[in-house]
Amino acid sequence: MRRLLFAANWKMHLGPDEARVYLKTFRARYNRRDDREVWFFPPGVSVEAAAQAARDRNDLVVGVQDVYWEPKGAFTGVISAPLAAQAGARAALVGHSERRHIFGETDDDTRRKVSAALHATLVPVLCVGETLAERDAGHTLAVVMRQLSAALGSLDGPAMSRVVVAYEPVWAIGTGRNATPQDASAVHREIRAWLTGRGADAPRVLYGGSVNVKNAAALLAERELDGVLVGGASLDPEGWAQLVQTGAA
Ligand code: 13P
Repeated sequence: MRRLLFAANWKMHLGPDEARVYLKTFRARYNRRDDREVWFFPPGVSVEAAAQAARDRNDLVVGVQDVYWEPKGAFTGVISAPLAAQAGARAALVGHSERRHIFGETDDDTRRKVSAALHATLVPVLCVGETLAERDAGHTLAVVMRQLSAALGSLDGPAMSRVVVAYEPVWAIGTGRNATPQDASAVHREIRAWLTGRGADAPRVLYGGSVNVKNAAALLAERELDGVLVGGASLDPEGWAQLVQTGAA
């Protein structure tokens, strides 16, 4: 049986008080189901509040949206993986397209961040995906494979097995356009083959980009999708509680 993973990326929304209120509403609307997990990526300042609000529900996981690769030191303005773990994070997004395209994060940065997350026992959720120009030029798979090998190429099988990959085509993020379930599925198949070929045991591959309560069922009907990574449609706890009950595992 697939265990679906529904991940909410709150981006730069919801402070600590709002996170507590959100989780209270969400928990009242969503009872644990054994066939799925729900992960939340609040902004750094809200990680501890969210983790506290979810602490007695081990099907609810809180993570951090980014980590710096050094464990500690004079690095003003960033959060290390051990510090995020101390605040209650159990996972970390790495290489989100907004980090790559707005903040100039490189493939090599993603490699260091994956390694730092693993050292701190956070599950790295590596985000990969092509821009519209890359897609139009027919480079989707080349870009995705380059991002995978740069970030994960040096990991051994056990480490590879702990990584989650999210395929998020850049042109589908926050635009209302999403990949067709078949297009997403075809890329997921290649990502999964790459991971299993390097020793990953039962890797999980999520899809992200304009997922909402209307299109989630059709996407999750594709067996290649192990779950979704959702931005805008995760910000309202009632709508998110509805979305996470989509799809059969
Ligand atoms: P949207 O769901 O708002 O398109 O964002 C997707 C995303 O970037 C999740 O990480």
